[in-house]
Amino acid sequence: MVYRMIFNQEAYFGRGAIKEIPNVAKTHGFHKAFIVTDPVLLKTGTVKKVTDVLDAAGMPYEIFDNVKPNPPVECIQDGVAKFKSAGADFLIGLGGGSPQDTCKGIGIIAANPEFADVLSLEGTAATKNPSVPIFGVPTTAGTASETTINYVVTDTAKKRKFVAVDPHDIPLVAFVDPDMTDSMPRSLKVATGLDALTHAIEGFVTPGAWELSDCLSLQTIRMIADNLAKSADGDVEAGEKMAYASYITGMAYSNVGLGLVHGMAHALGGLLGVAHGVANGILLAPVMEYNKDYTGEKYRAIAHAFGDQDSYNPDRSIEEVREEAVQRIHKLTVDLGNPTTISEVGAKESDIDGLTENAFVDVCTGGNPRKPTKEDIHAIYESLM
Ligand SMILES: NC(=O)c1ccc[n+]([C@@H]2O[C@H](COP(=O)([O-])OP(=O)(O)OC[C@H]3O[C@@H](n4cnc5c(N)ncnc54)[C@H](O)[C@@H]3O)[C@@H](O)[C@H]2O)c1
Ligand SMILES: [Fe+2]
Repeated sequence: MVYRMIFNQEAYFGRGAIKEIPNVAKTHGFHKAFIVTDPVLLKTGTVKKVTDVLDAAGMPYEIFDNVKPNPPVECIQDGVAKFKSAGADFLIGLGGGSPQDTCKGIGIIAANPEFADVLSLEGTAATKNPSVPIFGVPTTAGTASETTINYVVTDTAKKRKFVAVDPHDIPLVAFVDPDMTDSMPRSLKVATGLDALTHAIEGFVTPGAWELSDCLSLQTIRMIADNLAKSADGDVEAGEKMAYASYITGMAYSNVGLGLVHGMAHALGGLLGVAHGVANGILLAPVMEYNKDYTGEKYRAIAHAFGDQDSYNPDRSIEEVREEAVQRIHKLTVDLGNPTTISEVGAKESDIDGLTENAFVDVCTGGNPRKPTKEDIHAIYESLM
């Protein structure tokens, strides 16, 4: 067995990390930045934190702020056109997953114009050239797009999200600066934190996991268990840990894969526009329950991280501990106030067939430890009405 692991070339962590951007850009010989972000971040001053640093260093830039959540194909195409006329030689993906993923699409198409339709990038497209160099600057603590080889796009016409997996899109440098994530409102901290937790748990139990990815996934599960609720309640140090946890688990899942929670969450996001982390939070415990007999001893570690100090006791059956792990994750999502049904986020009975079809073919579903049938997926959605 040969394992492939792809990471950023360079990454900076800590409060003030964004101040390194101009020097790192100069080291690489870059002259002008094209900043990909969204209108909320521009209005609330988050973008200004980065442009102040660039202004002080005399580094020119152009801002593209036309990114929408669950970014559609059209956002990327608009960005490619603006990038071409900007005369920039590197990209800064500044935001949550939506701006960062849009940035990856722009960088890939600018370097591989034969994929200008965007749709042909679904799955593992054979791009020839690396993206225009990307600096990833996350403002949420969840997707880890700044360190992954994936990006997620909405096919507006078909109301479905698709994943592009391409080593050519990995950001060259990441700047994980908790000063950029402090401003998240509680609901966003909860949603993106549940996304990070889902990455950690799916990356931990996927068949592609191995010792190196397990180090990263398990440490993150512990960090999130200790810090997500505190961070949501405004604890700034816990927020800092969440920013790092998101990145650390991204290093693992980007390389080993995810699972059915993500496959089913993408279907909800594509059809109903449900925020990605909220959708994951609804599905995480039910899919853990569905997967539990296919996870070996791994749920012992999850139960332990979430406070079951006796989970490694050999006198306790693995079946009992697995159920404990599922219940503890369910309780977390309830305590955090995340919805627990898909009807709460607008799903109707008549949506379930379409959701099932899209979840079944989603790239992430292939990483699930238990191979689901369409009937299984249908039944899980049905149980969440
Ligand atoms: N590339 C990957 O590997 C990967 C992994 C998981 C998810 N995703 C994708 O990422 C997208 C979700 O990204 P997300 O959850 O980070 O949210 P997002 O980028 O969609 O942002 C959601 C909202 O939060 C606001 N926001 C972001 N940062 C803020 C801050 N610091 N303060 C206040 N408001 C802020 C944004 O302006 C936006 O209105 C989905 O499309 C999802 O499918 C990508
Ligand atoms: Fe995710």
